Amino acid sequence: EFMNGISEFSVLESQIKDKLQLEQVIIVAGNSDEQTSVKEELGKACVQFLNTILTSNQTIAVTGGTSMAEVANQMKPLLHAPNCTFVPARGGLGEQVENQANTICSQMAKKANGNYRMLYVPDPLSEESYHSIIEEPAIKDILEMIHDARIVLHSIGDAFTMAKRRKASDEVLQKLKTGNAVSEAFGYYLDEQGELVYKVRTVGMQIEDLEHAQYVIAVAGGKSKAKAIQSYFKQGKSNVLITDEAAAKEMLKGN
Ligand code: G3H
Repeated sequence: EFMNGISEFSVLESQIKDKLQLEQVIIVAGNSDEQTSVKEELGKACVQFLNTILTSNQTIAVTGGTSMAEVANQMKPLLHAPNCTFVPARGGLGEQVENQANTICSQMAKKANGNYRMLYVPDPLSEESYHSIIEEPAIKDILEMIHDARIVLHSIGDAFTMAKRRKASDEVLQKLKTGNAVSEAFGYYLDEQGELVYKVRTVGMQIEDLEHAQYVIAVAGGKSKAKAIQSYFKQGKSNVLITDEAAAKEMLKGN
């Protein structure tokens, strides 16, 4: 749509836009649950979209996960946006190194010819450590950049898939079960209505910060994520969704 004015999925895109109340929806062909090439296409679509909106000297906050890792893989030099800085939105959230926001943001920055900053904070954090760590000057500095980011890139996951991948404790799993958690995004676990069930305590971007950002771009595809995507958007904190045909079609079922 943003490339040549015509999208194979323009009808589907406007249906999803209406259903989830979004400003922009971009759909790529296929089902990323089944084909890795579809996830690559999601990554490419995200990079192309960034190229249409980015200007110089901006801060882009990015989360972790395999979808974001694919955006980093597909990243190209951002020719119209010199001197941009990539920052991790939150901490590692228990992910393996290759899926952590710090790793992904440094890779994105290198490929984009941009700058990056790291966030060296363990998570989850105890209440006590949290309060002392946010007073550290070096941490304070990067936290300010994260809170002020004009562009946020994140994915959305199925709650239990994410909790298990991050080796959540039995106590947390129980909380998610009792609260009927459906989706996860940057450490927030939400139920079907988009209400908070559980959040990982860590520094960095909080859901409230999304209100100051101009573009909050969710990249999430695959039929298995349809419920999670709908749950996340009940809160309506992001304005752009880049997804695939299978997730989009599944979301339109039953209404
Ligand atoms: O933060 C992780 C996302 O919510 C989903 O991760 O892109 O690997 O499915 P994923």
